[in-house]
Amino acid sequence: MKTCCNNFYNTLFVYLFILLFSCNKKDNTPPPPDPCLGTNYVFEYFKTEALCSSNNGTITINAPVGDTMTYKNGNGAYQRSNVFTNLAPGNYVITAKNHKGCTDTAQITILNYGPKYAAVKLLIAGSNGIGGYCGPCHLNGGTDGGKNFDTDASIVASWDRIKARAVDNNPSQMPAPPNAPLTAADKQKITDWVNAGHRISD
Ligand code: HEC
Repeated sequence: MKTCCNNFYNTLFVYLFILLFSCNKKDNTPPPPDPCLGTNYVFEYFKTEALCSSNNGTITINAPVGDTMTYKNGNGAYQRSNVFTNLAPGNYVITAKNHKGCTDTAQITILNYGPKYAAVKLLIAGSNGIGGYCGPCHLNGGTDGGKNFDTDASIVASWDRIKARAVDNNPSQMPAPPNAPLTAADKQKITDWVNAGHRISD
């Protein structure tokens, strides 16, 4: 009796199996190759953060670029220009589209720089590398004393040591001599930022 039932179910199973496969195998023509397969761009961009919650952030896409490339911000219209301006602090999805209509996206965050942080960032790193006190030793990959200030996060994390060295000369002056110390006004900018809470938004 047992063998009978086992055989019955085995047979049923085999029929179901064949049925399943025959359904799947109905269409043997391969689908046309996806023309956008492999459209994965490595986005490179330069951004300026928004200052004091204003709509003054910018994003410039440096890769991918090309004559036939267009870009859009969120659900906006495609544009030829690789530059987006008047951006409020927030998260943006930038889409790049090539001549075949294939797209890829990048997520880019525009931060809200508070006025005190913006002043400190400027005196540390300068604008586009010009005018800062802390390069080249701690900028553009420089790591003197184990400190690099290329990112906002690294500046914020080192707020106490930045004040100790550049304002209080503790244990010795930064910028390292023979470089000139900060002016009194610039030292005050660091002190004001630290007292306000040493955040990016201060
Ligand atoms: C000419 C190169 C040079 C410049 C410019 C310079 N530093 Fe330094 N920095 C060094 C060297 C070398 C060390 C490691 C020796 C030491 O700690 O004194 C160091 C170490 C540091 C350290 C880590 C040690 C600690 O005390 O926590 C901090 C923080 C620092 N510097 C802050 C600054 C700041 C802020 C500026 C700009 C306002 C600056 N440095 C400008 C060369 C430089």
